[in-house]
Amino acid sequence: MDTTTTVLPNNGGRRRLVLLPLPLQGHLNPMLQLANILQSKGFSITILHTRFTSPNPTNYPHFNFLPIPDVGLENHSLSDIGNLIRLLHHLNTNFLRPIRDSLARLMLEDVGVSCLITDAQWFATQTVADSLKLPRIVHRTSNISSFLSFAAFPLLRDMGYFRPFSDEELKSEALVPGLEPLKIKDLPKFLTSDSEEACELIELMVQGTKRAQAVIWNTFKELEELELTTLSRGFPNPHFLIGPFHKYFPESSSSLLAQDQTSISWLDKHPHNSVLYVSFGSLAMIEESQFLEMAWGLANSKQPFLWVIRPGSIQGFEWLEPLPDGFLERIAEGRGYIVKWAPQQEVLAHPAIGGFLTHNGWNSTLESISEGIPMICSPCFGDQPTNARYVSDVWKIGLELENGLERLGIESSIKRVMVDKEGIEMRKRVLNLKEKANLCLKKGGSSYTSLEDLVDYILSL
Ligand code: UDX
Repeated sequence: MDTTTTVLPNNGGRRRLVLLPLPLQGHLNPMLQLANILQSKGFSITILHTRFTSPNPTNYPHFNFLPIPDVGLENHSLSDIGNLIRLLHHLNTNFLRPIRDSLARLMLEDVGVSCLITDAQWFATQTVADSLKLPRIVHRTSNISSFLSFAAFPLLRDMGYFRPFSDEELKSEALVPGLEPLKIKDLPKFLTSDSEEACELIELMVQGTKRAQAVIWNTFKELEELELTTLSRGFPNPHFLIGPFHKYFPESSSSLLAQDQTSISWLDKHPHNSVLYVSFGSLAMIEESQFLEMAWGLANSKQPFLWVIRPGSIQGFEWLEPLPDGFLERIAEGRGYIVKWAPQQEVLAHPAIGGFLTHNGWNSTLESISEGIPMICSPCFGDQPTNARYVSDVWKIGLELENGLERLGIESSIKRVMVDKEGIEMRKRVLNLKEKANLCLKKGGSSYTSLEDLVDYILSL
């Protein structure tokens, strides 16, 4: 990847971009990667951020950081933001005035502000941008496929899907008309248990994206070509598919938790493609019973595994307390290794990794694809069920734990993905996508060209 800094033509001197990330790990990572990409193209970057889960400015001396005064978020901690919906509501109501004030001050000091780039979940900031006559571009941290399923919420409502599901529907393999490849059994997870409120937020996010000047996606054309065509019909604003972001530069440090580097030295001791990596990202929580099923499924598989167990991610516990007596002994002798947080991109790129048991957050899914690692999918909420369905049924680069976190299913899936012929075929397909991901970033490739177009577009605003 050519990462030399470009000298921009003059666009009236407006070369400062203000980026507003959502204060969550899975959103900060791609936004800061995007900031690096745009900075390498000659733009100056200001990161407008909440103090709550602030990125560490010392890791980015080449950016300006502008903290927004936190309005009522002082008492939140990372383990306390389980209620995502409440957080998103809060940000999109109480933070608008401080964001407007910060932007207005910045625009007085620096007449060179070209546009505001916000996470799509900052949907209410369109009114702020309009009031300042500042163009707003949306950065959607997730992919097009899941966005389209969110955009279909009004259709789902008309079809009567916004209601509690019967036991039969919870297992139904039937496709949802108009939302294929989603199955009816994907919808409850997809809608979340607080469905009305969650759906309202999602609809606001979709409308806010439609009103934006343009949309930047962390995906690549070869992965979602059909979906891009559908998207362009319903959302005529320009779309720039310039991912995978994390492949432009060596990993930047936007991790909010310390990454345990012993993961890498432990992996160094293992043969190629032999280790299963297990991680459920930065937000997902599991119940004690699910955790125990995972523990036994992994132990019984006899396959080496590196397992990230984020402190506080097992409901009601601080860390490993629920592990059964004898479990750690059973996985001793190098077969299993547990850490609190790993350098995930480095882990997935390690030759010892042969599979990924994941919640299918979009960053994790794209990072896995970019390294050619087949997946075992156990999605929790939001975009994850759609990502998982695409991994298993469309791209065919993994399989979903159809009965949830249950030890026999986990054990047999590990065998299918890591040992059986079926897994070899999945690996071939995901390696093919890895190759496409590499090519799209090279000169003339789809993401490379789309990034050039994005730069021109911003300069024309
Ligand atoms: C959330 C949503 O869950 C996800 O569906 C949405 O697409 C983005 O926001 P999160 O749950 O954190 O994200 O998952 P994911 O998107 O996979 O992002 C996790 C990030 O943390 C990845 O970039 C991953 O590399 C990083 N990570 C994860 C680590 O650095 N170390 C770890 O041990 C685990």
